Amino acid sequence: MSGEVKGVAVAAQQAGRQAGQHGRRQRGSSRVRSAVLWEALRTVLERIAPEDGPGDVVDVGGGTGGFAVPLAELGHRVTVVDSSPDALAALERRAAESGVTVRAVQGDAVDLPDLLGADAADLVLCHSVLEYVEDPAAAMVALTAAVRPGGSVSLLVAGQIAAALHRAAGGHFGDARRVLADPDGRWGDHDRTPRRFTRETLTDLATGAGLAPRELHGVRIFADLVPGALVDADADSAEALIALESAAATHPVLRELATQLHLVADRR
Ligand SMILES: C[S@@+](CC[C@H](N)C(=O)[O-])C[C@H]1O[C@@H](n2cnc3c(N)ncnc32)[C@H](O)[C@@H]1O
Repeated sequence: MSGEVKGVAVAAQQAGRQAGQHGRRQRGSSRVRSAVLWEALRTVLERIAPEDGPGDVVDVGGGTGGFAVPLAELGHRVTVVDSSPDALAALERRAAESGVTVRAVQGDAVDLPDLLGADAADLVLCHSVLEYVEDPAAAMVALTAAVRPGGSVSLLVAGQIAAALHRAAGGHFGDARRVLADPDGRWGDHDRTPRRFTRETLTDLATGAGLAPRELHGVRIFADLVPGALVDADADSAEALIALESAAATHPVLRELATQLHLVADRR
C-alpha cells in the first residue's frame, strides 16, 4: 500500500470511529430512529468511495445539514443543494460549529445538472424531499444525472402504509382508509405531507429514471410505536430496539410497514 493510500485508509478508520461517536452523541430515541439509515449509508460509502477515501456527496434538499454535517465530519466532500436560503444559512452555522466545510448551493432539485454539472457525485442523498417537490419524476431524472456511473442514490421517503396504521392507531379510521385509497397516500385536506410512497411507487420512480434498485430498508418500523421516554431513560432498551430495527429493516413484509422507506439505487 502506498503512503498516500495508507493515509487515506487510516483516515477512513478514524472516520468510522467518528461515525460511532456521532451515533452515541444522539439521545436514545433519535439514535433509534436514525440507526438503520446510518448503517445503510456507511455500507454505501464503503462500497463507492474511491479507495476507502473521501467521496463526493451531494445532499439534495439537505436542509440544515442533519446528514451533510456528519458526512463532512467523516471526511467526505459534501455539497447541499436546497431551495431554502434560511435552511442553508442554518447549515453554514452548523458546519462552522462542527469545524467542517460543506458547500451550500441554493436551487431546485430539478436544476441539479445546471447547478453542479453532470456526474458530480459518488453518492446523491435525497432524504424527506420527494414528498414535497412539484414533479418527483423530473427530480429523479435530475438526481440520476448528478451521479457518476457506478455511484448511488439514497432515497428516503414517508411510507404510505405506516401513515394508515398510525391514523388508525389514533382512532382516525376514515383517514386510514383514505390514505390507502389515495394515489398520493394523503389522509385529507389537513394532511401536511403532500405525498407518500409504497415500495412499488418508490422503486418505479427510481427505475423510471434509469436507476437500478439495490436494497430497500424500512426505517422506524417499531420505533414510532414505542414511547420515546422509554428508550431515552434506558440505554439497554435503546440498544435492544436498534438491534430489532436493524433485524427487521430488510424483512420483506415488515419493511413495507415502516414510517420511512429507504431505497439505495445505483447508476449503472
Ligand atoms: C423535510 S426537509 C428534509 C431535510 C433533510 N434532507 C433531512 O432529511 O433532514 C425538506 C428540505 O427540502 C427542501 N426542498 C423542498 N423542495 C425542494 C426542491 N424542489 N428543491 C430543493 N430543495 C427542496 C426544503 O427547503 C427542506 O430543506
